[in-house]
Amino acid sequence: MEKQARRTNKPEITPINRTIRIGYVGGGFLAQNAHLGNFSSLPQCHLVALAERRPHLAEKVALHFGIDKTYPDHLSLARDPEIDAVAVSADYAGQGEIAADLLRTGKHVFMEKPMAVSTRQAERILDAANEGNTRLMVGYMKRYDTGNRRIRDLIRQWQQDRGKGKLLYIRCHGFCGNWIAGLDTSGLIRTDESVGAIAAEELLPDWLPADGRRGYVGYLQQYTHQVNLLRFLLDAQSADDVLVTNVDLSADGYTGLVTLQIKGVRCVIESASTKFHGWDENLHVFFEGGWIRSTPGLLFSRPSTNDIEIYESGENGGIHYPATSVNQSWHYRAEAEHFLQCLQTGAEFDSPGSDALIDVGIFETIYQKFIHSSKK
Ligand SMILES: NC(=O)c1ccc[n+]([C@@H]2O[C@H](COP(=O)([O-])OP(=O)(O)OC[C@H]3O[C@@H](n4cnc5c(N)ncnc54)[C@H](O)[C@@H]3O)[C@@H](O)[C@H]2O)c1
Repeated sequence: MEKQARRTNKPEITPINRTIRIGYVGGGFLAQNAHLGNFSSLPQCHLVALAERRPHLAEKVALHFGIDKTYPDHLSLARDPEIDAVAVSADYAGQGEIAADLLRTGKHVFMEKPMAVSTRQAERILDAANEGNTRLMVGYMKRYDTGNRRIRDLIRQWQQDRGKGKLLYIRCHGFCGNWIAGLDTSGLIRTDESVGAIAAEELLPDWLPADGRRGYVGYLQQYTHQVNLLRFLLDAQSADDVLVTNVDLSADGYTGLVTLQIKGVRCVIESASTKFHGWDENLHVFFEGGWIRSTPGLLFSRPSTNDIEIYESGENGGIHYPATSVNQSWHYRAEAEHFLQCLQTGAEFDSPGSDALIDVGIFETIYQKFIHSSKK
C-alpha cells in the first residue's frame, strides 16, 4: 500500500509556471515524423537540445528542427541544467532505461510506449522518478484522440441512461498493416551510422522463455495501445479492475483473440499482422439499447479523423453520425500539449507512468497464459 502511494503522481511537485525548456532523446523515425515537429512549434515550450547516438544524424536533425545544442547520449543531456523536461523515443526496451536515468537526475519525462518490457523494469523506472522527485508521462496518443475522448464521454452518458440498458461488450479490432500509410517519408533524414540497441534480455520477465521473446515484444509493442485505451474508456485505474479471461493466440504469439473483463465489462482484442495497405482498426461498443462504433483515421493524418457511428434503438432511433466526430487536433500533438500543460499547472497526466505499469502487468499475464496454453 505504501509502495502504491509512492508511485502515484506527486502533487507536491512544483509546477513550472513559465515556458518549459525541453530536451529530446532519439532523433529517429518517430521523433522526425511526430514529436520534434510538435515540441519545436508548441508555444508552451522551447526545444533546446537533442541527444542522439548517431552524431551525423544528430547534426542534421538538429539543423532541420532549429535545435541549438546536441549531445552524444542521454546522460550528457541529463547534465544540462537548462533543461526542465525531456521527451524520449528510442528502442523499445532501452527507452525505459533512458527515462529512468533522466527521472533520477531531476528531469520530468515524456516517453514513448511501451514504458517497460516487464513490471520489474517499470517499477525501477517509477522508483527513479521517486528518487528524482520527477514525473513521467507515457505517450499513449490514443488517450488524446478527440474521437476516443468523445466515445469515453458517450459510454459514461449511456451508463447513466436507463434506456440504454447494460453495457454488453466492447470489441477492439486492431489488424496491423502498413502503419505509415499516407505518410510522405521522402524527407526523412537518414545516415548510414549504425548503433546497436540495448540488450533487452535482462529487462524481459524472468519467466519468459527465449523462444517466446519475439512474440511477446511484438504483441506488447502494438497491443499495449488497445489495452490502455480500453482501460481509459472504462475508467479502469487499478490492476484489480482487469481480469484476463481468455487468451487464444496462434503459434506466432500475435494473431488471435484476447478476452478481458474490464470493470466487469467483457472486452475482446482482435490482433493480426496483415499485408493491408493501412492499419485496420475499429472499436465497437455494444449496449442493450444501441452501439457506438469508431474507425480511426490514419496514424499520421493531420488532423486525423475518427469517424463515429451511433446506433440507438427505440421508436425514434436509427444510425447517426455526431458532428464532433472529426478531430480538432492531431493525437501526437495533443499528447505533447497535455504533457506541457500538466507540467505548467501541476495537473495529473491522463497517462502517467504509474498507470502504464498496470498495462505492463496485464501483458505479463496475457503472455503467461499464452505460454501455458501452448505447452498443453
Ligand atoms: N506511439 C506510436 O504510435 C509509436 C509509433 C512508432 C514507434 N513508437 C515507439 O517509438 C520508439 C522509437 O521508434 P523509432 O521508429 O523512432 O526508432 P528509431 O530507431 O528510428 O529511433 C530511435 C533513435 O534513438 C537513438 N538512441 C537510442 N539510444 C539513445 C541514447 N541513449 N541517447 C541518444 N539517442 C539514442 C538511436 O540512435 C535512434 O536514432 C519505439 O520504442 C517505438 O515503440 C511509437
